Amino acid sequence: MDQITTIPELRVRLRSAGRIAFVPTMGNLHDGHIALVKMARERAECVVVSIFVNPLQFGPNEDLANYPRTLQADLQRLQEARADVVFTPTDSDLYPTPQVVHVEPSAIANTLCGAHRPGHFRGVCTVVAKLFNLVQPDIAIFGCKDYQQLFILREMVRDLSFPIEILAGSTVRETDGLAMSSRNGYLKPSQRLEAPRLYRALQQVVQTVQQGRRDFAEIESQTVQYLTQLGWIVDYIAIRSADTLLPPRPEEASLVVLGAARLGSTRLIDNIEFCAAPAQAL
Ligand code: PAF
Repeated sequence: MDQITTIPELRVRLRSAGRIAFVPTMGNLHDGHIALVKMARERAECVVVSIFVNPLQFGPNEDLANYPRTLQADLQRLQEARADVVFTPTDSDLYPTPQVVHVEPSAIANTLCGAHRPGHFRGVCTVVAKLFNLVQPDIAIFGCKDYQQLFILREMVRDLSFPIEILAGSTVRETDGLAMSSRNGYLKPSQRLEAPRLYRALQQVVQTVQQGRRDFAEIESQTVQYLTQLGWIVDYIAIRSADTLLPPRPEEASLVVLGAARLGSTRLIDNIEFCAAPAQAL
């Protein structure tokens, strides 16, 4: 496995690499990331993983400075998962001059997480577009836990004609249901015990809709109220069309429920895709 920091070295290494599968990350790798690397390994001759904590996607009051950086442990895990190339650029490798050109995602980027993290998805799209131009992969793989990110990146690839197939890896969970995330490490022991409740609350929403309720706004606000009473600071609970990420039409069956909520200062996100039986069939 080669660890490469500079863009010229990366270009030389990938020149005759064959079919490339790419997994962009911000490091602090957990089993969810490793599952994506394994998907990549099955699909291409050359597996490239990037580790870069992208300043463009953090707001002024977010955790950029404290974001967990565990490079040696990450390299060890990637070696075991048989990655071929790990690209670990510095800020000045990727942004040698202040970035003045950005990739502006669609209006969906201002909803859900984007409504609470202004500019976040613009920063994600901009860095992922740069990384795509540098790595020129055939396939790129992202986790479903970041459902809105995946949706927006698919739109970017389609609208900017990147010749890249985007694949999604399922969310990997701890045994108590908590979605794996680098931010779980911020949780205090009592918060860690409470954290799986977000997933359980989303499961409850799924069950409620599958039992035939269609008053989505009411279900969302009841779930927000439930979590708030238990000490969560809820950014949103939202039932959306899985195809458009817009509020679903009553007859729509392919749905996703998404949630983002904080325990103390740790912000957790999760989602469940599900199928609601059409209202008339119930
Ligand atoms: O999902 C992430 O880790 C990041 O948003 C990504 C896609 C690597 C871009 O910085």
